[in-house]
Amino acid sequence: MKAAVISLGSTSSKWTIESMEKHFSSVDAIDLRSIEVKMGSDKAQVLANGKELAEYDCIFAKGSFRYAQILRALTSRLGKTSYMPILPYSFTVGHDKLLTHLALQHFKVPMPNTYLAATSQGGKKILEKINYPIIFKLPSGTGGKGVMYAESYAAANSLLDTLTTLRQPFLIQEYIETNGEDIRILVAGDKVIASMKRKAMDGEKRANTHLGGAVESYIPNAYTKEISVRAAKALGASLCAVDILEGSKGPLVVEVNLSPGLKGITEASGVVVADKIAEYLFEQTKLLKDKGTKQGASEILKEISRKRDDATEQQIIAQLDVRGGRLLLPGVITKISDLADGGECVIKVKEGQIIIERI
Ligand SMILES: Nc1ncnc2c1ncn2[C@@H]1O[C@H](COP(=O)(O)OP(=O)(O)O)[C@@H](O)[C@H]1O
Ligand SMILES: [Mg+2]
Repeated sequence: MKAAVISLGSTSSKWTIESMEKHFSSVDAIDLRSIEVKMGSDKAQVLANGKELAEYDCIFAKGSFRYAQILRALTSRLGKTSYMPILPYSFTVGHDKLLTHLALQHFKVPMPNTYLAATSQGGKKILEKINYPIIFKLPSGTGGKGVMYAESYAAANSLLDTLTTLRQPFLIQEYIETNGEDIRILVAGDKVIASMKRKAMDGEKRANTHLGGAVESYIPNAYTKEISVRAAKALGASLCAVDILEGSKGPLVVEVNLSPGLKGITEASGVVVADKIAEYLFEQTKLLKDKGTKQGASEILKEISRKRDDATEQQIIAQLDVRGGRLLLPGVITKISDLADGGECVIKVKEGQIIIERI
C-alpha cells in the first residue's frame, strides 16, 4: 500500500514518514506549499508542483492554521480515493478556536466558560459581569501566542479596546487556575496513545513548549481519556492532540491540535509516538481497503435489492411533526430507508419536497 504525507516538512513529519516506511510499501513526502487545487465544472484536481497527484491508499495531510483552507480543499478532493485520518471540515474548524468551541459544545465536551460578543459594547458588558482573572484568545492563535491574560477589569478593558481598534476578533474565556500546568493527550481513533503534562516557565501563564514550558510524564484517568476521544470525534480528527486544563472543575478542553509536535510528548511519555501514529494509519488504511473490496460485492447486492424495492417504493401518508423548527419523521421511515445516525447524506430540498440520499 502506498502512502503520502503532505506537510510543511517539520522534524515531526520526518519522524512520522520514517515510521510509516516500516509498514507501507512507499511513503512520499509532499510539500504542502507546492499544492494547488483546481476546481471547475469537471471534477476537482489536486496538483503538486503543477502535476496531478498520484493515487495513494493513505494520505496524511497536515500544516499550520495558515494552510487550513488548502488542507480542507485538498482533503475534500482526495478523501474520496484515499484513507485520511482528518476529515476536510476539521481543518477549518480545528484551526479556529471559536469553531472548535462550538463543535466541543455540540458534543458536550467540558470546556472553560467562553464568551463571544457581537460588538465592543457587548464585550464590555461581558467584562462587567465576569470573574477575574480572564483570558482573551485570538481564534487562530497557536503556540500560546494568541493567548492574553487580564488580571482585572481595568486590564481587560484596555485589552478589549486595543483588540477592537485592530479589528481583531477574539474570545473571552474564564481563567482556569492550574499553577501554569496543562495536559496534552494524543488521540488515535478511540484510543489515547500518549500523554504529558506541561509546566509554564516561572512568571508565565501559558504552558506551551514554544514558550519554554517544561514537559513531564502524565497518566490520564479514564474520564480524561474519554473526553479527549470525544473532543477528537467532535472535530472529525482521528489523529490529534487535545489540550486540557485540570482545575477545580475537573478536566476542561481548551484546544484540539491537528498538527502537534512529537518531540516533547515522545520524551515525556517514553512512547515512540511516530510509530504509534504510523501503526494507526496503516491499520485504518488496511481496514478501509478490505471494506472497499467487501463493499464492492455488497454494493452489487444492494443495487439488486434497490431495483427490486424501486418497483414497490413504499408510500406513507403521515402528518408532519415540526418541533423547534426541526422536522421529525416517523420511525418507520428511518427503518425502511436504512439511514443510520451519523451517516453522510445529501439533502435536496425545494418548496414542498425533500429528498434524502445516502452518499
Ligand atoms: N482558560 C484558560 N485558563 C488558564 N490558562 C489557559 C487558558 N486557556 C489557555 N491557557 C494557557 O495557554 C496555553 C495556550 O492556550 P491554547 O488554547 O492551547 O492555545 P494555543 O493554540 O496557542 O496553544 C494553554 O496551554 C494554557 O497553558
Ligand atoms: Mg495549545
